[in-house]
Amino acid sequence: MTEAAITSSPLGDFAASDPTRLAVTIKPPRVLAVANQKGGVGKTTTAINLGTALAAIGEDVLIVDLDPQGNASTGLGLDRRNRRYSTYDVLTAQAPLRDAIVSTAVPRLHVAPSTLDLSGLELEIGQSRDRAFRLRNALASLNAQGGTRFTYVLVDCPPSLNLLTVNAMAAANAIVVPLQCEFFALEGLSQLLKTVESVRAQLNPELTIHGIVLTMFDARNNLSSQVVADVREFMGAKVYDTIVPRNVRVSEAPSYGKPVLVYDLKCSGSEAYLRLATEVIQREKKLCAQ
Ligand SMILES: Nc1ncnc2c1ncn2[C@@H]1O[C@H](COP(=O)(O)OP(=O)(O)OP(=O)(O)O)[C@@H](O)[C@H]1O
Ligand SMILES: [Mg+2]
Repeated sequence: MTEAAITSSPLGDFAASDPTRLAVTIKPPRVLAVANQKGGVGKTTTAINLGTALAAIGEDVLIVDLDPQGNASTGLGLDRRNRRYSTYDVLTAQAPLRDAIVSTAVPRLHVAPSTLDLSGLELEIGQSRDRAFRLRNALASLNAQGGTRFTYVLVDCPPSLNLLTVNAMAAANAIVVPLQCEFFALEGLSQLLKTVESVRAQLNPELTIHGIVLTMFDARNNLSSQVVADVREFMGAKVYDTIVPRNVRVSEAPSYGKPVLVYDLKCSGSEAYLRLATEVIQREKKLCAQ
């Protein structure tokens, strides 16, 4: 029986009442923050479609929408009216994460949606001592309740290195960085890496870069190939083999409230995200074995 099968079985309740069993049967989910302070590089598209691809191959996935724009929530077909509790309520300690989680049309894929309120978070909790650990604590309580059935949590970050992104990095095991295949792709990457370093030094010593995913690759454009070569030279093995092509089906899917894998499973974008999910799992095995 797989770990997921064990944690989602009726035995879960029994395990929760027995701490020794809990340690054996319930493994906390792997938390990956999808982050890059540059706007429009494919963070949300990657969170939605990597999440869907992981769910399609049997993982239990939670997407946490930490962007006030709420694109991950909308792109997964979540009507604003259905967002009873949001990540804003969770980070301001007005609701437990469990209450914000809703299912999506994709089996094994759940989302904790966001609302615009999240843009005021910094003003509200900026002075509190645990301000950087709100998400980490919320995930820890979810796990402690024995109710966590998730094997992966993907956190969709806003295009900024603000308190929201810092919360994601403080809660994450590793970071997935989407980089768009365009001229300024590497610009800002060193700033992102510096932020990762300081989060590692001050908040989360285990944080690593999981990998860099090149997005919106256009084979007809020489510049795209040059960017791939430059990024591979600069970041070496950190760059995933999978490159996500620019594909119109990928950009159409969110307006139907669907991941591209549901909208058009056979398109090149869907195939790329399925390959990326396989690669992520392979890297996970290596990281967890270290
Ligand atoms: N592989 C792709 N092919 C075509 N269009 C894409 C692809 N990936 C993303 N897009 C489109 O590019 C735009 C930006 O993508 P996305 O919203 O995922 O970026 P983001 O980094 O989350 O943006 P923000 O910084 O605003 O949160 C969207 O309109 C999206 O549909
Ligand atoms: Mg986004």
